[in-house]
Amino acid sequence: MPIDQEAILAALRNVQDPDLRRDIVALGFVKDIQIDGGKVSFKVELTTPACPVKDLLMEQCEEEVLKLDGVESVDVEMTAQVRQRQPKPEDLIPGVKHAIAIASGKGGVGKSTVTLNLAVALAQTGARVGLMDADVYGPSIPLMLGAQHERPFTQGGKIIPIERFGISMMSLGLLLEEGQAVLWRGPMVAGTVKQLLEDVEWGELDYLLVDLPPGTGDAPMSLAQLAPLTGVVIVTTPHHVAANIAGKSVQLFRRLNAPIMGVVENMAGFVCPNCGEVSQIFAGLTGEQLSEQIDVPYLGSIPLDPSVSDAGDKGVPALIGAPHRPPAEAFRQIAGQLAQQASILSMAKSAEPVA
Ligand SMILES: Nc1ncnc2c1ncn2[C@@H]1O[C@H](COP(=O)(O)OP(=O)(O)O)[C@@H](O)[C@H]1O
Ligand SMILES: [Mg+2]
Repeated sequence: MPIDQEAILAALRNVQDPDLRRDIVALGFVKDIQIDGGKVSFKVELTTPACPVKDLLMEQCEEEVLKLDGVESVDVEMTAQVRQRQPKPEDLIPGVKHAIAIASGKGGVGKSTVTLNLAVALAQTGARVGLMDADVYGPSIPLMLGAQHERPFTQGGKIIPIERFGISMMSLGLLLEEGQAVLWRGPMVAGTVKQLLEDVEWGELDYLLVDLPPGTGDAPMSLAQLAPLTGVVIVTTPHHVAANIAGKSVQLFRRLNAPIMGVVENMAGFVCPNCGEVSQIFAGLTGEQLSEQIDVPYLGSIPLDPSVSDAGDKGVPALIGAPHRPPAEAFRQIAGQLAQQASILSMAKSAEPVA
């Protein structure tokens, strides 16, 4: 019996996306089926290039199709198309598929470090990534990218982001004159967030990560009102978790109707420079326990490591400067988890059938 499309699709219905909990045919992932005698090829279009289970899905596809009578070889091409969130009429960034805010209850927990490295990790998978530094109280991203002396230029009345390590970045720090001190009040914060969204040429992006100021002030409110957020990531450290400050941010975002995409725990243990073993330094609730308590996904944990602080000082993200250290590995894993959460949330929101 000759092989046909239907038989191949039927076989591929046995392959489930573990996060979206549906088979890949129903999800509309299977494209371009070609049959040439016993040779079968097709594409599997995932919802993110950063999919953590990409290899597993590819193997399962091969396996299922090879089980069919008459199939000699299977060639699966894994591609990705990040799906659009539902735009609101007042959307200031219609070309951005996922706007994700990174928040923390307190400063100094590594929010900017995490935001930057996740942005670079996502870009390394092939996604188009922007980074908006909206931390009005301490815009630190330019320094962390060695771009603090850059002066952005405008084109057609729009500010052009700075390109570094594969990401497009704009920071409030670059829009202020050097040494210019600002006493921020609520309406000014809102105006600044709006300016960063509206006046910057973000273009077409798969992910725009926004480094928010710490705490539950005006910036998260304005952001949530001006751009439909896919969701919010909360960064915390073991000692701050104990004080339950992160929990307050969670409550705020729930009120703003911005889904919490997960908790990232930073500085969770110390990597021994000699043996590489990770030891816990702070007692108390772990990030994993916190996420359970507040019922949000746990995205992962980054150990305390000099490669992270050194990189920050040199203007090179740890992921680039020390790609084989444990933090880099953690950032890549967390980026995959985050991309997966973004896909899950946009699937859940999209009203039309996906197949
Ligand atoms: N995992 C880590 N290991 C070592 N140092 C870290 C780690 N995460 C952050 N740091 C350092 O901690 C300091 C605060 O981080 P930063 O990202 O600026 O925090 P925040 O944005 O929350 O204020 C920086 O000097 C940074 O290099
Ligand atoms: Mg910061």
